[in-house]
Amino acid sequence: MSILISPSVLNCDFGHFAAELDKIKDADWVHVDIMDNHFVPNLALGMPVFEAAAKYAASPLDAHLMIEDPDTWAPSYAEAGAASVTFHVEAAKAPIRLARELHAKGVRVGLGLRPATDITAYADILGEFDQILVMTVEPGFGGQKFLSSMLPKIRRTRKLIEAAGLETWIQVDGGISQATIASAAEAGANNFVAGSAVFKAADAAAEIGALRSLATEHSAH
Ligand code: DX5
Ligand code: ZN
Repeated sequence: MSILISPSVLNCDFGHFAAELDKIKDADWVHVDIMDNHFVPNLALGMPVFEAAAKYAASPLDAHLMIEDPDTWAPSYAEAGAASVTFHVEAAKAPIRLARELHAKGVRVGLGLRPATDITAYADILGEFDQILVMTVEPGFGGQKFLSSMLPKIRRTRKLIEAAGLETWIQVDGGISQATIASAAEAGANNFVAGSAVFKAADAAAEIGALRSLATEHSAH
């Protein structure tokens, strides 16, 4: 299964956005966090920033929608050039209908789970999604500590995917660094979002390379 390193631009220097995107041109995906101050207690990014990322990023865009009513808003991110759109199961009114609508627009579709949301209830609909996002912090802010209590959920999700004979990716987001990425990879994640680890590093490209090597070395596949 492919290993992807997906830097989050949430805490980059937006005064030099194009230069910040240039620092991560070796990334597999560019992760853009969309927050509405309702689903999470933070207001961040949105369509104008997403469109700027689409213009200047070298890698495909991964939209992470931490918003209420993704049923209404998610399709516009597919239309604005996302390669992947992830919405949260806690917010979607009709996750299957929304996944199908997004697939019809040609994007990969992710289902996001907050830390307290279990995957088991969604076992029968995993086939509707290309990836499951297991949040490894409470969503809303960068720079938080990785919740190692999420490792069993990652393992459980990987087992359910395998039992269903699917190739679904598992993305982890929150507190991913050189200290935590191996445990997430061993548990079964293959797509790693890293915000502060990449943008606080003296050399973002080297940090992406180091994260990718660790994830590859410790990958469960
Ligand atoms: C948090 C966001 C993350 C965040 C990750 O709610 O979804 O994508 O930017 O930042 P770090 O890697 O610093 O935890
Ligand atoms: Zn995110």
